[in-house]
Amino acid sequence: MHSWAGPMRQTKRYGLMVQVGLAISISAILPNEPSAAASDDVLQTSAAQSALSPLPPPVVLPPSKVMLGERLFHDPVLSGREKLSCSVCHDLKAGGTIRLPRTIGYDGQIHAFNAPTIFNVGSNYRLGWRGKFTSLIVQNEAVLNDRGLMAANWPRLLSRLGDDPEYLASFRKVYGAPPTRETVLDALVTFQMSLATPNAPFDRFLLGDKAALNPTEKEGYRLFIDYGCVSCHQGANIGGNMFQIFGVFAQPGAAEVAVNSHLDERLQASDGDGSVFRVPSLRNVEVTAPYFHDGSAETLQEAIAVMGRSQLGRELPQSDIDSLQAFLTSLTGEYNGKRLSAIADETDR
Ligand code: HEC
Ligand code: HEC
Repeated sequence: MHSWAGPMRQTKRYGLMVQVGLAISISAILPNEPSAAASDDVLQTSAAQSALSPLPPPVVLPPSKVMLGERLFHDPVLSGREKLSCSVCHDLKAGGTIRLPRTIGYDGQIHAFNAPTIFNVGSNYRLGWRGKFTSLIVQNEAVLNDRGLMAANWPRLLSRLGDDPEYLASFRKVYGAPPTRETVLDALVTFQMSLATPNAPFDRFLLGDKAALNPTEKEGYRLFIDYGCVSCHQGANIGGNMFQIFGVFAQPGAAEVAVNSHLDERLQASDGDGSVFRVPSLRNVEVTAPYFHDGSAETLQEAIAVMGRSQLGRELPQSDIDSLQAFLTSLTGEYNGKRLSAIADETDR
C-alpha cells in the first residue's frame, strides 16, 4: 500500500531542532522606506530568498478513494457510540476546524489543544501541536482509538462498516474486499491528502500576477519579511515546518494545561515539552479563529500583537498590525474552486 509519509519524511533531518530568533535578513534587498518603495519585483524575488513558495497544485488522487474517505470523515459511525465524526472538530465549512478555543472530547472533558485546520494537512511535516506524529496513518489511528477523541475500536468499527450494505459495496468496489483496518485508514488519509487549498491571492502574486495583492497586502507582506515573521512561518505552508518556543521574548500568558483521560500521550500536553510548539501554518488563518495551541487569542489582530511581543520582543504599531492582517488574509485559498472565506461566510449566515 502507498505510504503517505512522503512529504513529511523529507524534512525529518531537521528533527526537533529549535531555532530561536533566527532571522533571515532581507533588509539587504528590501529598502527600509515605506512600502511604495519596495517594488513588486523586489517583493517577488525576495519571496524566493525568504523560503516562501506557492502551494503546489494538489496531487492527483483516485476519486473513488477520496469519495469513500470523505464519507467516512463525516460519518459518526467511526466513533465508539456513533456520536462524533471527524468533521465535528474539523469542519470544512469552518476553515477545517471548529470555533472553540479547545475541543471537547468523548468523555466531556476539554482537550489540551485547539483543533488545527485539516486543510493542507498533507504539507505539514509533523502533525499535532507537539509534532509527535510523522505519518497521517499513524495519527489518524491514534485519534480513532483515543478514548477522549473518537473512542473507537477496530473489531467493532469493521463489523459496523461490513454490516452496512453501502459501505460494503463501496469497499468491495474501491479495494476489492470488505473493509479492513488498512483500507479504512487509506481512504481517510487519501481524502485528507485531497484537502489542499491552492490559488490564494498571495500564491497568484508569487506566480507573477502583480495585481493579485492590493497595496495594504503588499505592505503587510513587506512587514512580514522585515519583522522576521518569515524566519518561523515559512515554506509552502507558510509555517508547519519547524518547532519553536512560544514566548521567546515574553511569556504569552501562562496557559493552564488540561490533563484529561486520553490514553494516547502523543495527543497530550506533557510537561517535558515545555513551551515548544510546531510553528503553525498561516494558510487560511483568516478563517481558523481562535488562535494558538490553547485557543487563547480570539482574533487575528490579537494573535499578531502577541506574536510581536512574545516572538519578536516588540510592541507592533496598530497600522502595522492592520497591514499584517491584510497580508495574512491574502493567504486564504480555494477548496473545490471556492474561496474558504466565502464558504465560511455562507455558513455564518
Ligand atoms: C473532539 C474533537 C476532534 C475530533 C472528533 C477529531 N479531531 Fe483531529 N484534532 C483535534 C485536536 C484537538 C487536534 C490537535 C491534537 C494535537 O495537537 O495533538 C487534532 C489534530 C488532528 C490532525 C493533525 C493536524 C495537524 O496539522 O497537525 C489530524 C490529521 C486530525 N486531527 C485528523 C482527524 C481525523 C481523521 C479525525 C476522525 C477520525 C479527527 N481528527 C477527529 C480534535 C479532533
Ligand atoms: C520565533 C518564531 C516565530 C516568529 C518570529 C513569529 N511566529 Fe507566529 N507563531 C510561532 C509559534 C511557535 C506559534 C504557535 C504558538 C502557540 O500556539 O502556542 C505561532 C502562531 C502564530 C499565529 C496563530 C496561528 C494559529 O493558527 O493559531 C499567527 C497568526 C502568527 N503566529 C503570526 C505571526 C506574525 C504576523 C509574525 C510576525 C509579526 C510571527 N507570527 C512571528 C512562531 C513564530
